[in-house]
Amino acid sequence: MTRRFDVSDSAIEAAAHLMRNGEVVAFPTETVYGLGADASNPAGIERIYEAKGRPRHNPLIIHVSDLEMARRMAHFHPEAEVVAASFWPGPLTLLLPKRADAGLASAVTAGMNNVAIRFPSSSVAQRLIRAVGFPVAAPSANRSGKITSTRFAEVSRQLNGRISGLVEEDTCDHGLESTILSLVGAPIILRHGSVPQEALEALLGPMGEDSMPQKVAAPGQFKSHYAPEATVEMNVNNPVGNMVWIGFGPASKGCDLTLSSSGDLQEAARNLYAVMSEADALARPGDVIAFASVPLVGLGKAINDRLKRAAAPRST
Ligand code: TXA
Ligand code: MG
Repeated sequence: MTRRFDVSDSAIEAAAHLMRNGEVVAFPTETVYGLGADASNPAGIERIYEAKGRPRHNPLIIHVSDLEMARRMAHFHPEAEVVAASFWPGPLTLLLPKRADAGLASAVTAGMNNVAIRFPSSSVAQRLIRAVGFPVAAPSANRSGKITSTRFAEVSRQLNGRISGLVEEDTCDHGLESTILSLVGAPIILRHGSVPQEALEALLGPMGEDSMPQKVAAPGQFKSHYAPEATVEMNVNNPVGNMVWIGFGPASKGCDLTLSSSGDLQEAARNLYAVMSEADALARPGDVIAFASVPLVGLGKAINDRLKRAAAPRST
C-alpha cells in the first residue's frame, strides 16, 4: 500500500519516519519527483532499485538540506565551493570524490568512488531531508526508461503499490531533471538539465561545443529513455499521417498539443513530461507522437536531449 502525505509538519515527519525505517517515499523537488530513501540504509536503497526496476550498476543522486551535509559526503575543492555558492540550492547536481567516512550505503554510488550530490531549493524536499537527518538518495520517480514524473498523478500511475509513501504537492516548476556537472577533473556536463550550459560557462568558461559524454560515465544515460508507449519523432514541422502533433511557438497552429504556444523554453521545459504523458493517452494504436523543432539554445539543449532519447530505438 502506498500512503499519501500532504505537506503539513506532521505528515512530513511521518514520511521521514518511513524513510528512516528503510522504506521508499516519493516527494516533489523543484525539478521532478524523486523516489527517496535514507542514503545510509542499504534496505531502503535496495527498495529504490526494486521499485524502479533500475539496473544495479546505475548509481543514485543524493540530496542534502544544507552545504555542511554535502561537505560531509564529498571532498569539496575550491572550484566546487565556488560552483556550490553560485548555484545551490537549485537544480544542479555535482559529481565529486566521495569521502571514505561519508556513511553512504555502497549501492548508492553503485560501488564507485565519486558521488553525485544535489541541494534542492524545494522547501518540501529540504524539510523532508532535515527530518530524515541524513542525505536522501533519489532517482526520478518513474519506472526505469519511462516518462519522468512531474505530477503526483503520474507517480501514482507508474508506482502505486510499489512504494510506501507519496508526498503530494505539484511544485516541480522546472519540469526537467537537474543538470549534472562533473568536477572530478576538468568541468564537464554529464547531463543537460534545468541549469543551461551557458549559465555554467559564464562562471567556469567554455566547456566545448557539446560536452555531453559519449563514453563518459553517467551510466544512466542509455540511449532509449524518457519514453512514452507510442513511437516518438522529433523535428516534425509539417505533420502528415496518423500522429499526435506537439507544437512549439506561434508556428504550431493546428497542433494537437503544445509545449509552449509563445515559444518560451522555460514553459516548454515545465510542460514537457506532462505533455508526453497526455499525448500517449491521446495516441491511438499506430499513431506517432511528433514534436515540432525546439531550438538548441539554453534549456532547448536539455529538451532536445530528452526528445532524442524518447525517439531512440527501443531495446526491448
Ligand atoms: O533533478 C534530478 O536530478 C532528479 C531529482 C529527483 O533530483 N533526479 C534524477 O535522478 O534525475 P536519476 O537517477 O533519474 O538520474 C540521475 C543520473 C543517472 O543518469 C545516473 O547514472 C547519474 O545521474 N549518476 C548518479 N550518481 C552518479 C555517480 N556517482 N557517477 C556518475 N553518474 C551518476
Ligand atoms: Mg531519471
